[in-house]
Amino acid sequence: MSTALITGGTVGIGHAFAKALAKKGYDLVLASRDLEGLEKVAEEFRSTYSISVEVIRCDLSVRKDVDSLAARIEDQKRPIDLLVNNAGFAVHESLLVTDVSLHDRAFDVMCRAVLVLSGAAARAMKIRGHGGILNVSSSSTVITTGNYSAIKAWVTVYTEGLSIEMKGTGVKVMAVLPGWVKTEFHSRAGVKAHSLPDIVWIDVDVLATTALKHLDAGKVLSVPTAKWAFAVWVGHILPRRATRALSRALSKSRES
Ligand SMILES: NC(=O)c1ccc[n+]([C@@H]2O[C@H](COP(=O)([O-])OP(=O)(O)OC[C@H]3O[C@@H](n4cnc5c(N)ncnc54)[C@H](OP(=O)(O)O)[C@@H]3O)[C@@H](O)[C@H]2O)c1
Repeated sequence: MSTALITGGTVGIGHAFAKALAKKGYDLVLASRDLEGLEKVAEEFRSTYSISVEVIRCDLSVRKDVDSLAARIEDQKRPIDLLVNNAGFAVHESLLVTDVSLHDRAFDVMCRAVLVLSGAAARAMKIRGHGGILNVSSSSTVITTGNYSAIKAWVTVYTEGLSIEMKGTGVKVMAVLPGWVKTEFHSRAGVKAHSLPDIVWIDVDVLATTALKHLDAGKVLSVPTAKWAFAVWVGHILPRRATRALSRALSKSRES
C-alpha cells in the first residue's frame, strides 16, 4: 500500500487530490491548520474508501511546524510515496504596503515550506529509488499579477530545477499549473471571480485526476485541460509588454 501526504488536503484542490488518491487505494496523511476539518475529512475517507488516514495539524507559515512535517516525510519507517505540496492562498495585496506580513506568510507557505518539504521528500525517496513530488503552482505563473504570480513562478522554476536533480533516481517531480478552479481560494482573499463565465473554470476533480495522470506519465509541467494549456502557451509567447497589459486588466477586473 502506498501513502500520499497532502498539505491543505481538507478542502478545494487538496481535497480533490486526496479523493483521487484514496480511490486509487493510497493511504493518506493530511496536513493543515484546521484539526476539526482534518478529523472530519479523515473519517469520511476512512469509511468511504477503507484506507488509513493520518492527520497532522500544522501551520506552514510556522518554521517548527514545517520542520516537524519534514521529519515525518523523511521517516523511512513510515514512507511517504507521494508528496503533494498544495497548501496556499491568493495574495490580493498591493506591492506598496508597509506591513508586508501577508507577503511574508505567502513566501513562508508557498515557497519556504515547498522547499523544505520537497527537499525532505526528495532525500527519502532517492534512497528508496522511487516516489513522486507534485507541487501545485498556477497558470498565473505566466502573467504578472503581483506577488502571487511571482511566488508561483518560483514554484514552477524550483520544481523544474528539482526535477533535474532527481533525474535518473526513480523519483518523479512535477508542477501543476491550474487555471481558475472554484474553491474557497478566491472568497478567502476577497477576490471577485465567481461571476466569471463557466468556460474559464476547471472542474476540481478533472484537475486532480489529470495532474496525477501527467505525473505517472513523467511530465515535469502539467496544465490540465486543453483550454488552459492553450492559455499558458499564449502566455509564454506573448511579448512581455502585452503580458503586463493583460495582467493590469485582469487585476482591475477583480476590483470592480
Ligand atoms: N483555486 C484556484 O483557482 C487556483 C488556481 C491556481 C492555483 N491554485 C493553488 O492551489 C492550491 C490550493 O488552493 P485551493 O484553490 O484549493 O484553495 P482553498 O480551497 O482556499 O484551500 C487552501 C488550502 O491550503 C491550506 N492552507 C492555507 N494556508 C495554510 C497554512 N498556513 N498552513 C497549512 N495549510 C494552509 C488550507 O487549509 P487550512 O485553512 O485549514 O489550514 C486549505 O486546505 C494553492 O496553492 C493555490 O495557490 C488555486
